[in-house]
Amino acid sequence: MDASTLSPKPLLRALKGDAVWPPPLWLMRQAGRHLPEYRALRAQAGDFLALCTNPGLAAEVTLQPVRRYGMDGAILFSDILIVPWALGQGLRYAEGEGPVLDPLRDAAAIGRLDPARLLGGAAPIFETVRQVRAGLAAEAPKTTLIGFAGGVFTVACYMVEGHGSKDYAAARGMAYADPALFGRLIRILVDATAEYLIAQADAGAEALMLFDSWAGMLSPSQFRRWVIEPTAAILRLIRKRHPAIPVIGFPRLAGPMLTEYAARAGVRTVAMDTGMDPRWAAQAIGREITLQGNLDPLALLAGGMALEVEARSILAAMRGRPFVFNLGHGILPPTPPEHVAALVRLVRAG
Ligand code: CP3
Repeated sequence: MDASTLSPKPLLRALKGDAVWPPPLWLMRQAGRHLPEYRALRAQAGDFLALCTNPGLAAEVTLQPVRRYGMDGAILFSDILIVPWALGQGLRYAEGEGPVLDPLRDAAAIGRLDPARLLGGAAPIFETVRQVRAGLAAEAPKTTLIGFAGGVFTVACYMVEGHGSKDYAAARGMAYADPALFGRLIRILVDATAEYLIAQADAGAEALMLFDSWAGMLSPSQFRRWVIEPTAAILRLIRKRHPAIPVIGFPRLAGPMLTEYAARAGVRTVAMDTGMDPRWAAQAIGREITLQGNLDPLALLAGGMALEVEARSILAAMRGRPFVFNLGHGILPPTPPEHVAALVRLVRAG
């Protein structure tokens, strides 16, 4: 038997394939603006990037939702755009506007990315991982620490576009018009992302997640090329150093491409977005894959009966298989903490 199946950590067991019931839970964006204690600390830290690169404060923010709700998972407080930033691309978070990067539109700009800077630039993130792991050992010994990075396609979208967009036409256009150039960027990101995740695991992350939020915008052929293949390449690199660490993949809006992703991307757990029917996924995806998800963040915001009905139908569909309860996308800032506490009670009651 794998030693981890004996782990006292329910989330780690579920991510390794045990049908733990009631299922373990954590929520995407559980640390953040819905928590008054986060807003207080964020005001002290100044800007968001300063908070992400201050290990003492970032570790504290990571632990806040674990303390308040007793979550089974602690997700590292950071951002997917730390990788481009550590590679040397200019990044700022404009208040109310989201992330803004100096857009990469040609070979010269892509050539200026410097993989040699990555581990040094991201050093504060690895220190946060060490501090959170120590904090969990002291305060919440059953909670699993999840490290993460962006999926390379999603990160490339922000890098090429320079900001959030409704269709990422510049990035997707480059992928069709100049696949060699886009492929060069993707290869840089595959190596950087693997290196970055391996360093998080070395520092104490017990599981890893890849957030590919814009994966579902791609045509099937492009999805294979820019989502499945790079993810499989990252997993091969991680496996050389950490053969057994569980990795969660989140190819958001993948629809029926989820089955091909589950079969070929190499991840052990697949996260379902809000639009995925958990009953379909339970049929389409074998039990060797743990599923995670997928309550609508708006149902959590609404609370009451809406929350109860939606959460119960997910539990019913997932009962008996390896499963981790989560949202289908990040928690919304106006969500009342009491609704989160009510959801935790409901899931824990099975
Ligand atoms: O889940 C967690 O609690 C861990 C922390 C985390 C953040 N971002 C913190 C954050 C994680 C896992 C992410 C991932 C991330 N970042 C994704 C993938 C998941 C998704 O939501 O689709 C993406 C696309 C980003 C890029 C990003 N970062 C955007 C678009 C924004 C602005 C939108 C927003 O919510 O403000 C950010 C900023 C950001 N990342 C914040 C937080 C808590 C808000 C910063 C603040 O406090 O003002």
